[in-house]
Amino acid sequence: MEAVASKPVIKAVALCGSTLRKGSCFNHGLRSAFQISKESVNGMEIEYIDISPVPVLNTDLEVDGTFPPVVEAFRQKILQADSVLFASPEYNYSVTGRKLSSLNCSADKAAAIVSAGGSFGGGLAQYHLRQIGIYLDLHFINKPEFHLNAFAPPAKFDSDGNLIDPQSKHRLKEVLLSLFAFTSRLKAGNC
Ligand SMILES: Cc1cc2nc3c(=O)[nH]c(=O)nc-3n(C[C@H](O)[C@H](O)[C@H](O)COP(=O)(O)O)c2cc1C
Repeated sequence: MEAVASKPVIKAVALCGSTLRKGSCFNHGLRSAFQISKESVNGMEIEYIDISPVPVLNTDLEVDGTFPPVVEAFRQKILQADSVLFASPEYNYSVTGRKLSSLNCSADKAAAIVSAGGSFGGGLAQYHLRQIGIYLDLHFINKPEFHLNAFAPPAKFDSDGNLIDPQSKHRLKEVLLSLFAFTSRLKAGNC
């Protein structure tokens, strides 16, 4: 019997740039993204990467072009991924800047940003992250955009941190589908 070629799986890594507390609404948002991708995005695997062990940039720790083991492990995860999903908070109208230097191994990958915050839903930070992505040679999907005003009614999360707002869940799904489609095109050289 002829073997049926299986569809290549798109590997995405998810990074949470917010506070490192367990209850971070960004961690909750990513958990919802995993759930939605499992249910609705056939062919994409998302792996959460915990950035907390990655130290603040200190080039004294880079010896002869080698990085500390935790940084190298982080770099390898990024290198092996097809795309990157950022859950970005907004701090003082911009990105936190945390650990972005370690991402300088992300060339030619597709990416998407989801953010949450106050009035602008973290949207201002998204534009700064896109600008940083130019140097990192990341290719962000343009549409749909996902910025969530976490504080305006209706409630977006339940007390366990599950994303419960149907409109937000729908938009998050659309982001993941768009990231999946764009990553597939990039991998196939159709961009
Ligand atoms: C110093 C500081 C500045 C902040 N600036 C903004 C901002 O400009 N826009 C915004 O939407 N949220 C702002 N926030 C809120 C944070 O982005 C974030 O939503 C909050 O720290 C909760 O994150 P967590 O749920 O991941 O712990 C700020 C928070 C702090 C502590």
